[in-house]
Amino acid sequence: MKWPSDRISKSSPKSFGMYEKARKLMDQGIDVIHLEVGMPSFDTPQHIKDGAIAALQGGLVHYGDFAGNAGLRRAIVKRLADHNAVNFSENEIVVTNGLTHASYAVMMAAIDPGDEVILLEPYYPQHVNKIELAGGKVVLAPLDKARNFAIDPQTIEARITPKTKMICLVNPANPTGRVYSREELQSFADIAIRHDLLVLSDEVYEQIVYDGAEHISIASLPGMRERTFSLFAFTKAYAMDGWRIGYIAADARYMPAILKITMNDVAHVNVFIQEGARAALEGPQDVIREMLDDDKRRRDLVVSRMNQMSGVNCATPEGTIYAYPDISATGKSSAKVAEEILEQCHVVTEAGSFYGAAGDGHLRICFGAEPYERIEEALNRMARYFADCGE
Ligand SMILES: Cc1ncc(COP(=O)(O)O)c(C=O)c1O
Repeated sequence: MKWPSDRISKSSPKSFGMYEKARKLMDQGIDVIHLEVGMPSFDTPQHIKDGAIAALQGGLVHYGDFAGNAGLRRAIVKRLADHNAVNFSENEIVVTNGLTHASYAVMMAAIDPGDEVILLEPYYPQHVNKIELAGGKVVLAPLDKARNFAIDPQTIEARITPKTKMICLVNPANPTGRVYSREELQSFADIAIRHDLLVLSDEVYEQIVYDGAEHISIASLPGMRERTFSLFAFTKAYAMDGWRIGYIAADARYMPAILKITMNDVAHVNVFIQEGARAALEGPQDVIREMLDDDKRRRDLVVSRMNQMSGVNCATPEGTIYAYPDISATGKSSAKVAEEILEQCHVVTEAGSFYGAAGDGHLRICFGAEPYERIEEALNRMARYFADCGE
């Protein structure tokens, strides 16, 4: 008997990057500092928990609407109009189990075997897996490293073939920490429109922006709403990663196919969890400000300390919870540097090349998961490592 299916055996092996190597140290009881996993360090705000608890206590325990609770979808529609400058109706929203599920549903609904999907590189690795599971072919378009990983329209356009079906955008970008400007997004949109392509827009970090940076939803640009799948989640900004909730906003014409996937994989998202998400949207938003101020403090620590280390050049992330310092002056591959930092400093970082070959020469440092003092300790250890590299 053939096992597993071609769908599985032909897709890239699942990798958790450096975490797998760190696990071995942790199993030996070694205290490692985690600068690799993109997990918020805060507890979910109380009013959000209360929203879910009240729904549960009130008996919201039975099957619900496949697309999501009507009240939550109404709140999402309002949010999209107020914050993202895009108008959708309730039947153009599908509530999902986080952004992971949203992107899976879109890929499965949109991609036929052999279709090509362009990913900007460095990319978010999960998107590779999903394109491959859907039978599609990943085509990489490197971002412009010399301009701090800016969108490079010529590079994207050069990769378009008659088989190109979709381009993926992650904005704010993981792993680079970029928040794309209106001009960059317009150049991206022009290509999508000129070649009649679909766009998957991963906006999981939409609210994690600093220093007045403006996050612009690509669907708000002229001609883009009708070709864009705008994906959001409560994961990062509301510290709800374990809750598993997000949503897809897309033109009504795409929804029957998307629902065909989500109805079959999860039926619908847990109904009382959805009421927590609704409380997140309808409740006070100053909780996000407080968390962001804390993230920014840790970001500034990482950037200033990394820039003092020999052979390290760290751009200031405009958004997300990641710094992506250039460590190419060490003369070593990013995988080697990440491994040595793990072995010698017991600090887990992620090799830049985990996000594609174009990311080699960089490390991804998550400053959003560990407390300030732990990050400081990690940086002290890493400073010693980079000082030794220079000798
Ligand atoms: C770019 C990006 N997309 C999607 C996800 C997954 O989000 P969720 O936990 O909502 O599934 C992450 C998580 O780190 C991410 O960085």
